[in-house]
Amino acid sequence: EVKVYPAYIAGEWRFSESQETIAITSPWKADVIGRVQALTQDEVDQSIAASKAAQRVWADLSLGERGDYLNQWASELEKDREAIATAVMNEVGKNYNDAEKEVTRTVDLIRYTVQEALHMHGESVRGDGFPGGSKDKLGIIERVPLGVVLAIAPFNYPVNLAASKIAPALMAGNGVVFKPATQGSISGIKMIEALDRTGLPAGLLSLITGRGSVIGDYLTEHPGINMISFTGSTKTGKHLSQKSIMIPLVLELGGKDPAIVCEDADLDLTTQNIVSGAFSYSGQRCTAVKRVLVDDKVADQLVAQLKPAVEALAVGSPVDDSTVVPLIDEKAADFVQGLIDDALAKGATLITGNQRQGNLLAPTLLDNVTEDMAVAWIEPFGPVLPIIRVQTTDAAIAIANKSNFGLQASVFTQDIDKALEIANAVEVGTVQVNGRPERGPDNFPFLGVKSSGMGTQGVHNSILSMSREKLTVMNLR
Ligand code: G3P
Repeated sequence: EVKVYPAYIAGEWRFSESQETIAITSPWKADVIGRVQALTQDEVDQSIAASKAAQRVWADLSLGERGDYLNQWASELEKDREAIATAVMNEVGKNYNDAEKEVTRTVDLIRYTVQEALHMHGESVRGDGFPGGSKDKLGIIERVPLGVVLAIAPFNYPVNLAASKIAPALMAGNGVVFKPATQGSISGIKMIEALDRTGLPAGLLSLITGRGSVIGDYLTEHPGINMISFTGSTKTGKHLSQKSIMIPLVLELGGKDPAIVCEDADLDLTTQNIVSGAFSYSGQRCTAVKRVLVDDKVADQLVAQLKPAVEALAVGSPVDDSTVVPLIDEKAADFVQGLIDDALAKGATLITGNQRQGNLLAPTLLDNVTEDMAVAWIEPFGPVLPIIRVQTTDAAIAIANKSNFGLQASVFTQDIDKALEIANAVEVGTVQVNGRPERGPDNFPFLGVKSSGMGTQGVHNSILSMSREKLTVMNLR
């Protein structure tokens, strides 16, 4: 029998008055593994109102008291590590090891967030620094909460990317309305069950699930929402930024991260980083390596090393700890297949891959990809890696920057001057020298430019983005 999960509305686990549910299908069991609630707009209103009311009291607690709840949440998650990892594996098809690492990373993230918030403090300023100003004006600058934060998490890290919004929002003194990705809501529910066990004040956080057509824009445009932190597709992110007028917004969206491989790169290290960067979790990471821009002089050698490394990847079920697992759904697999077909029709060379069983695609390496092919520019969010050969470093930089995306870029070279020169020239949030693109460690700032995002995450920056300055001026006598 398929389990029906309640939503967590205004401090209560409830079934929706809509009496409608949404089926969650496991990407690898190809079976419905649970049903979640399709909430109504009225239930969204109740959640936001309860959050706002509880937030006022929450913000008055000391940082230490707020931190105690969060530390307890981390301990509860630790106790549920296996159950939550299993939920992640079943729901989004991440292999068990990676799912377990995600839970551990989340426990660490929450504890780190508590510590970070405890160590942050405001500042003061005297007026005499400005011409004509006086020492008798003393400005006290504190950080205060924004109110109710809407946290929208994606399917690929249903636990970690949820906590990376919820924990800083709560430490900064906000209430939270948490909207997990529909495919990811069971994992989200399990982590909020753990939070609920800490006795968190009722209503402070709600977990809402539902249909985008009913509650999507309604949430985004809701006057009770004071900040939105969103991770997901560029399409949805752009839509959110059009709907949420004058609401602070942090967006972490898609990417097309290049690995720029110079003539003098250490090709063993480069191969290892490109393969894990491109194919971990089937490339369903915004920070996956999504194109290789390699100097023609070492391209043959690089391809010769990539081919066996890609063919050695474990492909199959997440229970067997495969690196390449079935994509989140059939539609995602069709999309990736379309990119492969287009490239091959336009003359790309298939090095390995291009086999498919349902939504499981073999890791696919395409050489001699040219700028007229869609796979050169479009984010596949799947296991296909295009190799574009370039004659010069300048050409690599030009192609890197021609993309609409600007999340991260990797540069492989043994020449530090060249590494810095390229790092300066690429229009991205982060450059990884001799390493794969990745968000972690979670205390690093994480940001994308252009269509990859807006604002900065990472523990410290998330706390800043979920609070604001408040200035009190003492006019002394
Ligand atoms: O796609 C989500 C993005 O945040 C990736 O995180 O840790 O895989 O680099 P990570």
